[in-house]
Amino acid sequence: MIQLSIVSYALLSALAVLVAALAVDVYRRRRMQAKQALIGHEELPAAPGPRSWPLIGSLHLLGGYEVPYAAFTDLAKKYGPIISMNLGSQKCLVVNGLNNIKDVLVTKGAHFDGRPNFARFHQLFCGDKENSLAFCDWSDLQKVRREMLRAHTFPPTFSSRFSQLDIFVADEMRDLTSRLDATNGAFTPIKPELMHACANIFTAYFCSKRFDRHDAAFNRTIDNFDSIFYEVNQGCAADFLPWLLPFHSKQMAQMKNWSHEIREFMENFIINDRLARRRQGLVAQDESTDYVEALLEHVEDQQTEKLLTFDSALFALEDIVGGHSAVANLLVKALGFVASRPEVQERVKIEADLATGNGARPLTLQDRVTMPYTDAVILEAIRMISSPIVPHVSNQDSSIAGKMR
Ligand code: HEM
Repeated sequence: MIQLSIVSYALLSALAVLVAALAVDVYRRRRMQAKQALIGHEELPAAPGPRSWPLIGSLHLLGGYEVPYAAFTDLAKKYGPIISMNLGSQKCLVVNGLNNIKDVLVTKGAHFDGRPNFARFHQLFCGDKENSLAFCDWSDLQKVRREMLRAHTFPPTFSSRFSQLDIFVADEMRDLTSRLDATNGAFTPIKPELMHACANIFTAYFCSKRFDRHDAAFNRTIDNFDSIFYEVNQGCAADFLPWLLPFHSKQMAQMKNWSHEIREFMENFIINDRLARRRQGLVAQDESTDYVEALLEHVEDQQTEKLLTFDSALFALEDIVGGHSAVANLLVKALGFVASRPEVQERVKIEADLATGNGARPLTLQDRVTMPYTDAVILEAIRMISSPIVPHVSNQDSSIAGKMR
């Protein structure tokens, strides 16, 4: 048997480490070349970005800001519009600039049509984020859901759905302003009023149902939607560091409960009655063109091949009705922004007075074209509040602006 000295052992170990490092390097290069060949580029530089630490990646850089993603603006100043960084173990590209964003969402949309696998999103949708319209990956099911929604969420101007929406908005605004007038200027928290008005516009339009301002079950549902809206707009370190999840068990249980209560409301106050009347052929004329009807027709119709189950139809309905939270919270923020800017309020008022003959008639959706300043105020508010609520996930190797991860 050959005896080796300690020095020989050390040399052999060093050699082994060197060979392993070389093997890893060769493997990495080959992978990189394969990747580059795949996406049709000779040599693509990796996007620059901050140093990544074990476990946390560069997550620590998002701390110390009012909202975590404000860090991306500072990072873009340092690294340029395309930043490569690890958030926990997730490899990410942070993309800035209209053309680059268009690349991700439109030109190469098919490469980036997945959504992250965050535990919170699963929790909100009965353990499966694919039940959600906004947090699911692209699929045939999502295609069907989007097609069914198109006529309802983007009704062409002058179509009957557009006119119906106009009527529901006007009804709710009349109700809201008369309630506010009745307070005679007393302090009134505006958020619950706006939430209720927006929720009623949504349920009237999508479900042909509206609810009284003091309806306890409806108000509770509005609160539940608002809690979910708040939750999904928050950054959460556990999204990127799943080993932190056990510390969020209470929050997860709460989220499950909000979704559960919303489901109960939808079944008890919207779906069950409609389903029963539908089966007896007693659907009213107004109801026959709403979104609930489109969903029930799809799941109840024996002829069509169904991708959408009854359960997924209910999830889709809840998602869409929950959209009122986005609109109401935007309005609250917009009012907050203009509260300290009397000159903006004045210009919006002038436009509204001109459009309606000093309030002789209610504002309609068509008035938007003659109110470009007000339109711009709302768009600016959207710009100021928007958050990276649903990141995109690539489903294949790709590049943005000639940079890869
Ligand atoms: C102020 C209002 C709103 C803002 C700022 C907003 C913002 C956003 C953003 C940033 C996305 C991600 C887009 C992407 O990554 O491709 C999104 C997706 C989505 N939003 Fe909204 N949203 C608003 C209102 C609504 C409303 C009212 C609804 C429902 C009626 C809604 C339903 C959806 C859906 C279903 C998606 C997923 C779309 C898809 O991937 O197919 N949103 N929204």
